Amino acid sequence: MKELAAHLKYLPWEVNLYLRGHGPCFGIFTHLTLEEKLLLYKLTRKFDHNSVIVEIGSYLGASTTFLAAAAKENKSQVYCVDTWMNEGMTEGTRDTYQEFISNTTLYQQQIYPLRGRSEDIAKEFDNQIDLLFLDGDHSYKSCRADVESWLPKVKNGGIIILHDYGWSEGVQKVVRDMVKPREKKPGLEMSNLYWTRVKAGS
Ligand SMILES: C[S@@+](CC[C@H](N)C(=O)[O-])C[C@H]1O[C@@H](n2cnc3c(N)ncnc32)[C@H](O)[C@@H]1O
Repeated sequence: MKELAAHLKYLPWEVNLYLRGHGPCFGIFTHLTLEEKLLLYKLTRKFDHNSVIVEIGSYLGASTTFLAAAAKENKSQVYCVDTWMNEGMTEGTRDTYQEFISNTTLYQQQIYPLRGRSEDIAKEFDNQIDLLFLDGDHSYKSCRADVESWLPKVKNGGIIILHDYGWSEGVQKVVRDMVKPREKKPGLEMSNLYWTRVKAGS
């Protein structure tokens, strides 16, 4: 068994996650690609014990479970903010909360669902954040409101990740206008996902 554990690190990330018991994460419906979900896992793994991870826009729990798989390993907490009413989604209004709860059962020790509108929840949220993942409404107005509400709570050197950066001009403009990367080089980007470490005062 020890030998198997030593070899795990040489296997592809997705195989690694399966062997560590995170297989159920892969079957949840989402528009995120496998590559994007694995990046969420890897970025969350960068943090130490008791880190605070916040996700805005959890929907059915696909991205949540990849954040939570890493949080389970480094004993951190994932706060999930959503109305769970398909806010701003083309699919139309639908209560998705029970589906989210049932899809994320494996991680109920790590996950704290905070049901309500992002801006309202932010007013009550006192913790400093290590990693902030924004995947709510992708219009400029909404994304800007999310960044204004949540970015000041991210620690210096913490990570912000925005989904749908590739196609949403609103998200791109919010990044240009409001996110100050800590490094001189702009934040690393995948085709549809932007992430960077942020500096104090962002
Ligand atoms: C694109 S989905 C999130 C997808 C999810 N991250 C995944 O892994 O598939 C957007 C979610 O954000 C939520 N949402 C949109 N605007 C919101 C707001 N202002 N406050 C709270 N939740 C919001 C919607 O209800 C929806 O569940």
